[in-house]
Amino acid sequence: MPEIVKNEAGQIVIGKEVFVPFLDEKKIKSRVKQLGKQISKDYRGKVPVFIGVLNGAFIFLSDLIKNVNIDCEIDFFKLSSYGDEKISTGNVRLLKELNCDVNGRDIIIVEDIVDSGLSIKFIEELMMHHKPASMKVCSLLVKPNSLRYNVKIHHIGFDIPSKFVIGYGLDYAQKYRNLGSIYVLSE
Ligand code: IMP
Ligand code: MG
Repeated sequence: MPEIVKNEAGQIVIGKEVFVPFLDEKKIKSRVKQLGKQISKDYRGKVPVFIGVLNGAFIFLSDLIKNVNIDCEIDFFKLSSYGDEKISTGNVRLLKELNCDVNGRDIIIVEDIVDSGLSIKFIEELMMHHKPASMKVCSLLVKPNSLRYNVKIHHIGFDIPSKFVIGYGLDYAQKYRNLGSIYVLSE
């Protein structure tokens, strides 16, 4: 059975590529807690709908809402843009629509990472047709130097350099989402 191999330095070696520890579980956990607290405060008296963008956001979303202490609901979109590569194909496809009616609701789009901003732009345009009362975006990671689209990310876990990362929901060719912490490709 293939196993995720870590070397003595705790790095993950995938073929010729080496991923080094970047954000550990403790750091992620404490930041996610802060985000949950802030959102609970911002939405007090409301019942927001957290909309996770599959697949990447599933771990972040589940940890985030455990730190939200007001009533809330969840739903999911599924988008595809990366295929099995490390760079976006530049076109986004909607693979799964929302199930709940968000007309008049306060929605929070939850992403694992914002790179060029294309996915968020796509979601913003899609959501206009759903007519929510308000829409905010919460992303665990943002690569500010990679942003190519004019999108506003209201809640950011960490700003990171424009490098490829894996773990905590983020994949490389669909794998490594199950790593508890985040690793960055060393160049
Ligand atoms: P964007 O549309 O260019 O902003 O890309 C956002 C999507 O690409 C995210 O939802 C991720 O699924 C994926 N993505 C962007 N950067 C990375 C990365 O470093 N590792 C894994 N997936 C990434
Ligand atoms: Mg994603």
